[in-house]
Amino acid sequence: MDMNNVNIEEIVKQVLAGMAGTAPAASAPAAAPAPAATPAGAIPKTAHVAVLTEKEHFDIKEYPIPPVGDDDILVKVEGCGVCGTDAHEFKRDPFNLIPVALGHEGTGEIVAMGKNVKTDTAGKPVKIGDKVVTCMIFKDDPEITMFDLNKKNVGGADVYGLLPDDDVHLNGWFSDYIFIRGGNFGSTFFNVSDLDLDSRILIEPCAVLVHAVERAKTTGILRFNSRVVVQGCGPIGLICIAVLRTMGIENICAVDGNQQRLDFAKRMGATMSVNFMEHKGIEALAEAVKEQFGGHLADFAFQCTGSPVAHANIYKFIRNGGGLCELGFFINGGDATINPHFDICSKEITIVGSWVYTLRDYVTTFDFLKRANAIGLPMSELITDKYPLEEINEALKKNLAMTGLKIAVVNK
Ligand SMILES: NC(=O)c1ccc[n+]([C@@H]2O[C@H](COP(=O)([O-])OP(=O)(O)OC[C@H]3O[C@@H](n4cnc5c(N)ncnc54)[C@H](O)[C@@H]3O)[C@@H](O)[C@H]2O)c1
Ligand SMILES: [Zn+2]
Repeated sequence: MDMNNVNIEEIVKQVLAGMAGTAPAASAPAAAPAPAATPAGAIPKTAHVAVLTEKEHFDIKEYPIPPVGDDDILVKVEGCGVCGTDAHEFKRDPFNLIPVALGHEGTGEIVAMGKNVKTDTAGKPVKIGDKVVTCMIFKDDPEITMFDLNKKNVGGADVYGLLPDDDVHLNGWFSDYIFIRGGNFGSTFFNVSDLDLDSRILIEPCAVLVHAVERAKTTGILRFNSRVVVQGCGPIGLICIAVLRTMGIENICAVDGNQQRLDFAKRMGATMSVNFMEHKGIEALAEAVKEQFGGHLADFAFQCTGSPVAHANIYKFIRNGGGLCELGFFINGGDATINPHFDICSKEITIVGSWVYTLRDYVTTFDFLKRANAIGLPMSELITDKYPLEEINEALKKNLAMTGLKIAVVNK
């Protein structure tokens, strides 16, 4: 399949079609209550799930909590970030999932689990009371990314928050309880009890940047003290800066047209910033970046906007022999015009693309967050707005309005 002609909607459709054929129903109820389960009465009989019942509208539905089988886990949800994919589904239902329980950037506390559940996907012991996250990456190879078309895993991923509705119903993190299925279902989940709630909500987007920086490192160009441009200071660019900063890279120049975001970029670890609104034309803008680096162009650049013009511009910031990581196009944003002679060939630029993450990056992200918090980066300030579950429609509208950074639904 030619990746140039594939867009995320087609891929997700393919994944979901495969899942509909392969996903078994919930594990059979345990014959006897699991010994590790919390005492009877502590868990309600029903859960509240935000179900997208039509475009731009969630209803909070009440469903019975299924019996927890020997391999299953019941999690009391604490919170869940709103992702661009959720907004996409909310607005247009491109994946044809309605009615669907959305929310995949969630976290919560184990309140019941079957007797066979001893460890998480990384082999770390789990017990009732532990805080967990799920991951949308298939579990049989830690190095492969989601929807890896070269491996035959399409159709095997279990994306809680994008599962077709079924008898279990408790399939998304925009809810007060989520049911993590065991057995052959292929769920991947991690014990992240040593992270605070905000950090846990940020794991998924941070994993995107841990992966991007790992991809950048494969060029051999990104090194300690490299001069780095991060273009675009939305959540993705800001987290990119934080990941670089925790790696000891300090010569970071942030580029954006939004001064508030550029100011935040400095608090995240950028040492310099350039507001493109203050410079007319790409030559002047490149000069401004060069000036920030004391007369040098960047060794490496990260493209963190969904703008084709930004992609075309970024080459002008990079020195001969430098590198570029393009990660701004999670979805098809259209074509960009570059001059292959001037921009790539004669400059000998090394380019890597980056999309989503591997299971290994997901685990590395837990350490990244601890380090970022330890050195005082204002990670939790990335979550600008928190809504209770019953205001989920407002949360999605806020995300679509793009007036905050990370929007989250947090249960009381
Ligand atoms: N690679 C992946 O797996 C992956 C995962 C998630 C998101 N993304 C992509 O990352 C991109 C950024 O995500 P976000 O949530 O931060 O988006 P965002 O829209 O919040 O931020 C983009 C920022 O880029 C700035 N910008 C726009 N044009 C610019 C230009 N010419 N020069 C400099 N800055 C410019 C905007 O002012 C804005 O601050 C999105 O396009 C998204 O598709 C990729
Ligand atoms: Zn997401």
